[in-house]
Amino acid sequence: MCFTSAMWRRVLLGSSYFDFMTSILVTGGAGYIGCHTVRELARSGYHPISLDNLSEGHREAVLEGDLATGDLSDEALLESIFQDQPVDAVMHFASRCYVRESMENPRLYYEQNVGNALVLLRVMLSHGVKKFILSSTCATYGNPERVPIDETHPQNPINSYGESKLFIERMLKHYDRAYGLRSVSLRYFNAAGASLDAQLGESHHPETHLIPRILKVAKGELEKLQIFGDDYPTHDGSCIRDYIHVLDLASAHIAAYRWLSEGQGSEVFNLGTGQGHSVKQVVTAAGQITEQEIPVEVSPGRAGDPPQLVANPRRANQLLGWWPKYSDLETMISTAWAWEQKRRY
Ligand code: UFG
Repeated sequence: MCFTSAMWRRVLLGSSYFDFMTSILVTGGAGYIGCHTVRELARSGYHPISLDNLSEGHREAVLEGDLATGDLSDEALLESIFQDQPVDAVMHFASRCYVRESMENPRLYYEQNVGNALVLLRVMLSHGVKKFILSSTCATYGNPERVPIDETHPQNPINSYGESKLFIERMLKHYDRAYGLRSVSLRYFNAAGASLDAQLGESHHPETHLIPRILKVAKGELEKLQIFGDDYPTHDGSCIRDYIHVLDLASAHIAAYRWLSEGQGSEVFNLGTGQGHSVKQVVTAAGQITEQEIPVEVSPGRAGDPPQLVANPRRANQLLGWWPKYSDLETMISTAWAWEQKRRY
């Protein structure tokens, strides 16, 4: 399919306005973390161009900039985006990101995550674009040997999702050396929360993530929450995760882009708070915030789920000057709850 300007959706402003702004291509810009970042980019004075095939993303979630609909594997489409206007950097969110699915159907993860990244990198380099920000994950570490996890921790993923992201991180090292591609890999811990005005939030079909599932129970859409395993070696037997507000993830992307724009070299950063919460703690907090009872049932642990994942985020604090602002449990759950009650998509 050939991509033409007529297929672009200019969300807010006329095209002439954008001519003076730095354009950043955001793959997966209609997805959960991508759409918050798109909004943050626009608020920071950049022109986001979202590319999304809308398989998981939502057209209504792109509130700023341009939206190009199509698949990342479509090289002609990518070519036309880079030809249409100068792109200064790429933020690459689009990927499959379910641990369980990655265990059941690894082919999707190697074909789509690794395969599409190869195409994207080839096209951007052929247009001389050399700044790349990758959505990576704490799942690249596997079962932690020590907690909190810093960036030097060995990377031994235990699921195909983490493995697929690690492949890309490794490719980036070689692309830097050989082609001068400068990249920042952001290893997210557990994204949570919604925009403060409840315009954007998490919307997956089906929803597998913990906080939105708890909130569906609070709303009466689900009968009860399954707690996946309560015999892990943690203080209450349930898994511990480091939850990070999606707005804090968005601001880290802006900081990473500025890092590369200053001419700094390729880097990897953990994005978490350094504080873990167990599944049971999250359920209790959500019960208090929503003032609803959350019935639970313990079921067996999921394949590929490490007992505890908690970040040491010091490197991002020190080098990027990035600190989470919204990642206390109360703000994450209450913003997600406000979104859940008046969701637009
Ligand atoms: N959980 C439940 N019940 C549910 C849903 C989740 O007990 O109904 C548990 C999970 O077992 C896990 C925790 O809640 O211990 C968090 O689960 P999520 O599904 O919300 O998140 P994950 O930790 O599985 O996945 C997230 C990201 C992935 C990333 C991964 C790293 O979505 O992209 O963190 O572990 F790879």
